[in-house]
Amino acid sequence: MSHGFETLAIHAGQDPEARTGAVIPPIYQTSTYAQDAVGAPRLGYEYSRSGNPTRDALQECLAALEGGPVGLAFASGLAAEDTLLRAVCQPGDHVVIPDDAYGGTYRLFARVAQRWGLEFSPAKVSDPAAIRAAVQPGRTKIVWVETPTNPLLGIADIAALAAVAHDAGALLVVDNTFASPYLQQPIAFGADVVVHSTTKYIGGHSDVVGGALVVADAGLGEELRYHQNAMGAINGPFDAWLTLRGIKTLGVRMDRHCDNAERLAAYLDGHAKVAQVIYPGLPSHAGHEVAVKQMRRFGGMISFRAAGGEEHAVDICNRAKLFVLAESLGGVESLIEHPGRMTHASAAGSPLEVPGDLVRLSVGIETVDDLLADLEQALG
Ligand SMILES: Cc1ncc(COP(=O)(O)O)c(C=O)c1O
Repeated sequence: MSHGFETLAIHAGQDPEARTGAVIPPIYQTSTYAQDAVGAPRLGYEYSRSGNPTRDALQECLAALEGGPVGLAFASGLAAEDTLLRAVCQPGDHVVIPDDAYGGTYRLFARVAQRWGLEFSPAKVSDPAAIRAAVQPGRTKIVWVETPTNPLLGIADIAALAAVAHDAGALLVVDNTFASPYLQQPIAFGADVVVHSTTKYIGGHSDVVGGALVVADAGLGEELRYHQNAMGAINGPFDAWLTLRGIKTLGVRMDRHCDNAERLAAYLDGHAKVAQVIYPGLPSHAGHEVAVKQMRRFGGMISFRAAGGEEHAVDICNRAKLFVLAESLGGVESLIEHPGRMTHASAAGSPLEVPGDLVRLSVGIETVDDLLADLEQALG
């Protein structure tokens, strides 16, 4: 029987424990497992890098939520990305990356993978023709997109880009961190691998760092599972448990994030101290129609450009009180940051450099009138 999203979030991979009936999957805080005889591990568990029941519960739940046969959990989003890149690519291969992406993802390509021999071309994810032009048939192994992008909230047409990637014999990888599987399920639109920083909406409480891959093809999934063990960038049982605890409320949290972000975007739009509001839910957003096609709602992230330029943007961030000045996103509390000097500082001087007047909001689930009042005083 197929179940709805919220039911899967609470139950997939999380049956009551067989021995005690514990309703919540226990934290199997163990590195190794007793074996009944040489070469006869119980239930297949030998060593916790290779397998751990708490991590398995999380992995099964992630796979169910994204609609793929294999889910894999990692120590961080970047650990998941690195494992994927080095499992799929070889030195000399080529990857198309977003010209607007999380700065740490760009750094992984530019400072780590490139040194190892992987070439990349940045291209605009909202323009399938630009992505097609950047693809090198025979050499490009991955078309990598974020949607919405971090921090400019560009929208990629997942189905159109799946066709571009597949025409060239490449995989389409979608970083679904900003949307979460509640708002968008890329595999249903043709993506081959979904990437998450589970640190963000999936964990949802700013208390755990983690990453995930969900893979559409079971064979590729098993290859990635092999690399998960061979490279070893797994998350620990307690981190897996915290992430799973967060997932149970993903649907209700996302709806409140969206409610609050819609109110704030409408307030900022047209405000005298704001030059431009970037939110996929606004009809003025260039990607609005594609977002309507592939997203349930438009998420909790808003970026805007300060009317007074870079120093005004920095002042807004410094003046905010309820919005905590901090990197990261997707937690229940609202955060504000200056991408150019914070999360995306590593992209300075590159094609991915972000505008200095940009402010990014991660809209939390507090009382919306309190958030509006804080923004009003912070805008100055
Ligand atoms: C869109 C996106 N992808 C990947 C990452 C990297 O994840 P992590 O910080 O968990 O390594 C981040 C982190 O901010 C992100 O925003």
